[in-house]
Amino acid sequence: MTHAHITSWLITIVLFFVAVSLLRSGSSKAKIVQMVLRLFYILTIITGLLLLHSIASISILYIVKTIAGLWLIGAMEMVLISMKKEKSAKAAWIQWIIAFALALFLGLSLPLGFDVF
Ligand code: HEM
Repeated sequence: MTHAHITSWLITIVLFFVAVSLLRSGSSKAKIVQMVLRLFYILTIITGLLLLHSIASISILYIVKTIAGLWLIGAMEMVLISMKKEKSAKAAWIQWIIAFALALFLGLSLPLGFDVF
């Protein structure tokens, strides 16, 4: 399940940057990419929840990891919505960076799958 989770969030991140660049260039394809991106949000959440379900004793770090993952998805939506409304996306980008660093660091330091940190 860790591999499904990693595949799913990696595709999510790639699609997010594709959507950002399409929105920047004003392409009408941005809408389609955003729809597929939302599907991958759901897949990432489902695989993350399945990982949580597979763990016998959940520590506070797992809860923080889950919140960071959900926060990152929220931040991606905020960036795209701010860009669409042609408002400053700075605050959303700052949240994106913090949530991404937290999700990556906690995910990789928790024991399942790769244990880098
Ligand atoms: C786009 C958002 C997300 C990113 C970038 C992300 C990133 C990661 C990474 C890097 C790992 C470690 C994989 C490994 O060690 O092999 C991981 C594991 C995990 N993720 Fe996520 N994740 C995201 C969303 C979520 C969500 C929404 C949830 C919960 C609903 C979640 C729950 C988990 C759990 C429970 C683990 C297992 C932790 C462990 O290694 O013991 N993730 N995630």
